[in-house]
Amino acid sequence: YVIGVDLGTSAVKVLLMNVSGEVCKEVSKSYPLIQEKSGYSEQDPNEWVEKTTEALKELVEQFDGDVASIEGISFSGQMHGLVLLDEEFKVQRNAILWNDTRTTEQCQQIYDLVGEERLLEITKNPALEGFTLPKLLWVKQNESEILAKSKVFMLPKDYLRYEMTGAVHMEYSDAAGTLLLDVGSKEWSTELCEVVGINPELCPPLVESHAHVGNITEDFAAKTGLALTTKVFAGGADNACGAIGSGILSEGKTLCSIGTSGVVLSYEERNDRDFGGKVHYFNHGEENAYYTMGVTLAAGYSLSWFKDTFAAEEPFEQLLTGLDEVPVGANGLLFTPYIVGERTPHADAVIRGSFIGMDASHKRIDFARAVIEGITFSLNESIDIFRESGKTIDTIISIGGGAKNETWLQIQADVFNATIVKLKSEQGPAVGAAILAAYGCGWYESLEKCADTFIQQAQTYSPNPENVEKYQQLFKLYKQVYVQTKELNE
Ligand code: XUL
Repeated sequence: YVIGVDLGTSAVKVLLMNVSGEVCKEVSKSYPLIQEKSGYSEQDPNEWVEKTTEALKELVEQFDGDVASIEGISFSGQMHGLVLLDEEFKVQRNAILWNDTRTTEQCQQIYDLVGEERLLEITKNPALEGFTLPKLLWVKQNESEILAKSKVFMLPKDYLRYEMTGAVHMEYSDAAGTLLLDVGSKEWSTELCEVVGINPELCPPLVESHAHVGNITEDFAAKTGLALTTKVFAGGADNACGAIGSGILSEGKTLCSIGTSGVVLSYEERNDRDFGGKVHYFNHGEENAYYTMGVTLAAGYSLSWFKDTFAAEEPFEQLLTGLDEVPVGANGLLFTPYIVGERTPHADAVIRGSFIGMDASHKRIDFARAVIEGITFSLNESIDIFRESGKTIDTIISIGGGAKNETWLQIQADVFNATIVKLKSEQGPAVGAAILAAYGCGWYESLEKCADTFIQQAQTYSPNPENVEKYQQLFKLYKQVYVQTKELNE
């Protein structure tokens, strides 16, 4: 057996999988976001450790086999979040997360100091509020005593893994999202550290995603019931793991993953394609491979915001009952999901969302459909960038919350004008983490072989030409909303 841990933004999920790639057990524990001000988004790293410990303990309790047969464990983690540790490896402050947008000023400083072109050459990415380097600079400028006392910075799942093993590492796929990694040469950029004034010693040692970095500590084994022999593998960024867990392991494959954020991701064999910084370009969890992706900041988050605000007491299924009866276009209602700003294609932390076209006859389900269509339109902007770059996108694997609802899967097919493939398990990142552990344990000779066993397709959804046509018209209007509402928030 192996365990995949997905340390997400709303919850941690742990998945026990066997040699045949079957999901045997699954436990999830949620935790809240801490949002003290508009634009702020934090979490307490100790809470991640606590909830993961609880989840693993429950998983082990439910498991009736020999714990020593759980050979390996690996991780998928929400990206970019800054965890600062002192000399004794104690957490110094709440983690500042990927969807925190307080760092617009620091992004500008990075451009002024490094230059846009040089930044793109080294990191292959633009300076965006969500990335880790701007957060490090924010702490340096606003809480200088904390940075002065810091010995090392980590990303969320790296901190969790440290707590389980005592070993300090970061792996390439997550390091790529810090804006301090030379993505092509896979080394920390001492040039960038120097120019922006960050001590390079804060950067932890780098390893591959499948690297065996240690075993479970005695303390963690006692707390969870896991065996001391369980090997711990580095793991990957949630999007890299989502790609592995959906078999996005060769050129031409595309993924749509709708969790708290939403991404459209494409495999890249090479690190020298030029997208001009319009999409993120990161190291994959597969050695020496890459992926590009566009990000919708509030995808599932828009829907959970809508539910919490207008249907807090009801389960999701109830909120979405009747979704398929609302016609394409939500009876004239249009939503833009910019409730915490937007990444692709706007890189705009200030823009805010909108409902356009409200009518006195609209019901809550019209609003729910508009939210879902708006999220899908936002993701379609990323697909447009890929198509404009010459990529053919006719089949997309869909995972995450967006793949749980049949109507939404059909909406994806119609908005993206592509065949949508749903997998047996929509838990891509956790499955990807389990695959990394299985590969690390030596069960298979390649990640691809492992993925062939672990991933099974369930259903496909074909675009309906009539709906495609309607959505193409609506998409033009959707794009106008950004332009026309921009000034509202300036
Ligand atoms: C990617 C990003 C999000 C997080 C979500 O750049 O910020 O997709 O990884 O966990």
